Amino acid sequence: MRNLLQVFVGFLLLASTALAERETLSMDFGWRFHLGDIEMPVPQSHHETYLSTKAGNALGPASPDWDDSDWRVLSVPHDWAVEGPFDPQANVSQGYRPRGIAWYRRSFQLSEEDIGKNIELQFDGIASHCTVWINGTLAHRNFSGYSSFQIDMTPFALYGEELNTVSIRVDASVMEGWWYEGAGIYRHTWLVKRDPVHIETDGVYANPIRKENGKWTIPVEVEVFNSGELDAEIEIATTVFDVTGRSVASGKTKAAPKALEQITGKYEIPVSKPKLWSVEEPNLYTVRTQLIRSGEVVDQVETQCGFRTIRFDAKEGFFLNDEPVKIKGICNHQDHAGLGVAIPDAMWAFRLGKLKEMGANAYRCTHAAPTKEFLEECDRIGMLVMDENRHFNSTPEYIRQLRGLVRRDRNHPSVILWSVFNEEPMQAERTGYEMVRRMAAEVKSLDSTRPVTAAMSDGFFSEINVSAAVDVMGFNYSQDKYDKFHALHPELPLISSEDTSAFEMRGEYETDTERNLISSYDTQAAYWGNTHRESWKMINERPFIAGGFVWTGFDYHGEPQPHVWPSIGSVFGCLDMCGFPKTGFYIRQSQWLEGEHVLEIAPHWNWQGREGEAIEVLGISNAEELELILNGKSLGRKTVDPYELVSWSVAYEPGELLAIAYCQGREVARKTVKTTGPASQIELSSDRASLSGDGVDTLPITVAALDDTGLFVPTANQRVEFSIEGPGKIIGLGNGDINSHEPEKGRRRSLYNGLAQVIVQTDPSSSGAITVTAYSNGLIAGKFSIPVEQVEQPARVAIPESSDVK
Ligand code: GAL
Repeated sequence: MRNLLQVFVGFLLLASTALAERETLSMDFGWRFHLGDIEMPVPQSHHETYLSTKAGNALGPASPDWDDSDWRVLSVPHDWAVEGPFDPQANVSQGYRPRGIAWYRRSFQLSEEDIGKNIELQFDGIASHCTVWINGTLAHRNFSGYSSFQIDMTPFALYGEELNTVSIRVDASVMEGWWYEGAGIYRHTWLVKRDPVHIETDGVYANPIRKENGKWTIPVEVEVFNSGELDAEIEIATTVFDVTGRSVASGKTKAAPKALEQITGKYEIPVSKPKLWSVEEPNLYTVRTQLIRSGEVVDQVETQCGFRTIRFDAKEGFFLNDEPVKIKGICNHQDHAGLGVAIPDAMWAFRLGKLKEMGANAYRCTHAAPTKEFLEECDRIGMLVMDENRHFNSTPEYIRQLRGLVRRDRNHPSVILWSVFNEEPMQAERTGYEMVRRMAAEVKSLDSTRPVTAAMSDGFFSEINVSAAVDVMGFNYSQDKYDKFHALHPELPLISSEDTSAFEMRGEYETDTERNLISSYDTQAAYWGNTHRESWKMINERPFIAGGFVWTGFDYHGEPQPHVWPSIGSVFGCLDMCGFPKTGFYIRQSQWLEGEHVLEIAPHWNWQGREGEAIEVLGISNAEELELILNGKSLGRKTVDPYELVSWSVAYEPGELLAIAYCQGREVARKTVKTTGPASQIELSSDRASLSGDGVDTLPITVAALDDTGLFVPTANQRVEFSIEGPGKIIGLGNGDINSHEPEKGRRRSLYNGLAQVIVQTDPSSSGAITVTAYSNGLIAGKFSIPVEQVEQPARVAIPESSDVK
């Protein structure tokens, strides 16, 4: 009888909690933060000890009762390391930024109507190790800042007046990499409320394939979990929508997950003549998967997919949709000036846009999993991705991390390669080979449609090495060994997983080792690397190499090379940390952009005091010939070598340097560089026309020094102060100078070679306009206004009324 009653009550609960759609609520707002560790209290008596070991009874800041009212209130993504000062005693690779330990706490309410639903907390990334308690119960330990994790808190969730409390101890003293990794909850956090019978997180695999007969199909796999008390009978149904939103195909199956059972529904959805996804035309289809119980939709998930084929050929390189595509890729870490690793979503569009503008068609996520918002943007704009795993380790915890990466990312058409490691000392040993073999098999068990690679840096010719366990050989540097390797392994496709590592500082044209300055004429590179000009030649002239990934697209915090302190960041980028182009950017444009005339001159023409001295002028162009004209006098027309480009030695005289590019004798482009007067005004600009008033939209604004006539002054280094009015705040500042120790937060920043960047973010539920004003002693202030549009607010977890957090 009692059982029957339970079943009946359970049925009522299920019936009353059926959700047409799951609720995915942002938890990003209203966290409390405590910098530094808090010692856990030691129980004083046997009784206290006994109690402290029980579920729900965690002590100290892990306990719901801990008084955190004086902790700082903030939103995530948050990186506490970038907020702090530089310290010469701190780790060089992490950019001399102390990291350490900190705590976060947040409370929230669940209504009584939520009883019976499945309640999951999701964390997209916390750097680096963390321990999570929910309502005083130890809920999770995470061992990588790059792997997302979820916690099903349904069993110990509290409803009604009682608050739920999440306490997180973050240990960022751990280093997973040799670059700046930031510290804290630096990616999004979510609370998901679902029907007890629901699709698991990342539980839809729907990646189209073209069958041997040329027909397209989507083999769908849907993982369903029933966290309810009753066995369920459901239908799993998927509809595919094309780019215009028209439903074009569907498929379904029936399933009966018992209480607390996980099942996988599988079916195929043929799709006839889909529009293909490509770099130029990234057509995306929407896949809507629903769970239907008694005719009612109880859960629904939308994923996107693209119809495209990929193939790596050992002789002819990479093919996308059967067309050869040379991979023009860049490697990147995930930080930005002023923000560290806490990157608002809008910044991905900004950064990827710059790389596209450079002509890049591929991105290698070094050396770890990116955010899902980043991959969505890559899908949207047609950027190919080499998705990389962080830890080279085939033991269970690390296999869990690797599987998490593949499960999360395997629907993205942009992802074309899984990389299991970067430059591992075991790469030329049996141990490394055995590990790759196992890791590759794990990847394939989840996705067999993309090849597995590993970025090797040595041991290419050892008797045993990991190249025997991969589908595509990843070659880091050692470009002089391509031919020998290919001759020995003519059947193994080869890609330059990393190359170049050239040194350049934006706007510097003289190397001064005393002052940690490096010229940007593309003449210097790490001893294991090459200049941009050398690297691309070696790749482009070999059809058997699928392409390459330049180290790096953007400069990044940490790993200062070749100089260390006071340098705090790298200078490998084609663009600096703010995304301002260096010479490398234009060189890559000249190598990579097809069907567009590229013409740029380095250096600037402000060499006051150096009259008569020889200045090297580099002409960067994909034209056949260039003519250089100084103050109306031709310095001659020269043939442009497509790799080496062309240069002149010019006796400096102020005025105007004009370059004219010719193809087949006809002028195709011209570019002038003029000597400027001193900086007299500041100009603020951006590439967007409006912002969304949602509390998350973010805009980098360019701050530039101009002279009286409006010419950009490439040598201005004044300090600038900023003020902001309207519904927004300044969240970061930068100028690309890796020798600067100015704070990246606040209201002040110097220009570096004429430029700085101020990054603003809108307030939630806002509209109107944001106005940023920049002042500097003696310069006419610059003003910039941008409209803020009212938009629907992202769904959020409210902060409890009883809390003093507003
Ligand atoms: C590579 C390494 C990168 C970076 C680079 C600097 O060997 O894979 O992470 O350290 O060198 O040149």
